[in-house]
Amino acid sequence: MEKHIVVIPGDGIGKEITTAAVKVLKKIDEIYHIGLTFEYQYAGGTAYDKFGTPLPENTIEAAKKASAVLFGAVGGTQWDSVEPALRPEKAVLGLRKALGLYVNLRPVKVQKELCEYSPLKPEIVTGSDILIVRELIGGIYFGDKCESEIHNGVERAWDLENYSVPEVERITRFAMEAARKRKNKVTSVDKSNVLATSRLWRRTVTKIAAQNPDILVDNLYVDNCAMQLAIRPTQFDVIVTGNLFGDILSDEAAVLGGSIGMMPSASIGELTSLYEPIHGSAPDIAGKGIANPLATILSSAMLLRYSLEEESAACAVEKAVDAALEEGWRTPDLYKDGFKKADTNTMTEVVLQYIK
Ligand code: NAD
Ligand code: IPM
Ligand code: MN
Repeated sequence: MEKHIVVIPGDGIGKEITTAAVKVLKKIDEIYHIGLTFEYQYAGGTAYDKFGTPLPENTIEAAKKASAVLFGAVGGTQWDSVEPALRPEKAVLGLRKALGLYVNLRPVKVQKELCEYSPLKPEIVTGSDILIVRELIGGIYFGDKCESEIHNGVERAWDLENYSVPEVERITRFAMEAARKRKNKVTSVDKSNVLATSRLWRRTVTKIAAQNPDILVDNLYVDNCAMQLAIRPTQFDVIVTGNLFGDILSDEAAVLGGSIGMMPSASIGELTSLYEPIHGSAPDIAGKGIANPLATILSSAMLLRYSLEEESAACAVEKAVDAALEEGWRTPDLYKDGFKKADTNTMTEVVLQYIK
């Protein structure tokens, strides 16, 4: 049966990294005969320049019909002054909403070859294996907002955060299920000492925890969690948190593995799921051919695992990435003396060679 992948390169390094991941998926298809087909769609600033909107209706329709979506990244300084509703970032937010992608899985596993690369000491990061379960279509990202208004004679702007009980219940249940396949621990992260939404979050998590007595559930304030990630990351198994905290904590956690260019993600909902690296369009290195493609390649492994149920193929990709690192290949974000320097293309070719 045909498995149709909609590829959305987006902006900046998006094209370079999705090209790499598609090569990997094509090689996998030659070996595992999955029957992959590919279709390309526009989103982000590139779509805005061409069609006047960052998220064309065609892109949404194609994504809805796909077996899975592979997404690069959107955004760039050239679109910073575009009106807020048409900013490139609206593309990824709009797709998440249109596809109902309420869960964002961001695994952080420190590869043994890379524990020397973190600015943190190897003895702190070694053994870290965290799954961040980020709520993706609620919270302050999607509440009412006002870009500018005059209030009591001064200009102000505001964003409203809201979470409903069902929204927190479904993400918490997902986190419990995920923990059950791992080390049976969930840390819920909030700011319930200050925010009403966080108090509802914590009450709801506590209720769901009581229904899952086999899972050890604890709570941390987000400020403390940010610190704990840096001082004792190995204490975590699954972290469940809201949209904004999950965004920030996952970039912080990326430091454990030495580079954000290693961090994949899966955004899952009831319809089609979407796979993308956690990093952005990296305008500072875009077009140079030096971006680390591994986050996107590892996202394609998650695509094979979660959307296509091709576990062996997913493992083959992950093993090939491990092998490339073990052999000493490094893109500039991870390069040190004594290793083999790879640009995006070389790293991709090396991974392809190791796929079996
Ligand atoms: P960024 O993640 O693009 O870059 C942060 C730093 O990490 C930069 O120094 C960059 O060079 C480096 N980096 C990122 N990915 C890399 C890779 N694969 N290999 C090597 N180095 C890499 O974050 P930013 O600079 O804050 O944002 C740039 C643009 O991307 C903004 O417009 C932002 O809104 C957008 N963004 C988009 C997404 C998305 O599409 N999902 C995610 C995050 C940021
Ligand atoms: C991410 C990004 C997005 C987010 C932006 C580009 C809207 O930072 O995927 O982590 O904040 O969710
Ligand atoms: Mn982010």
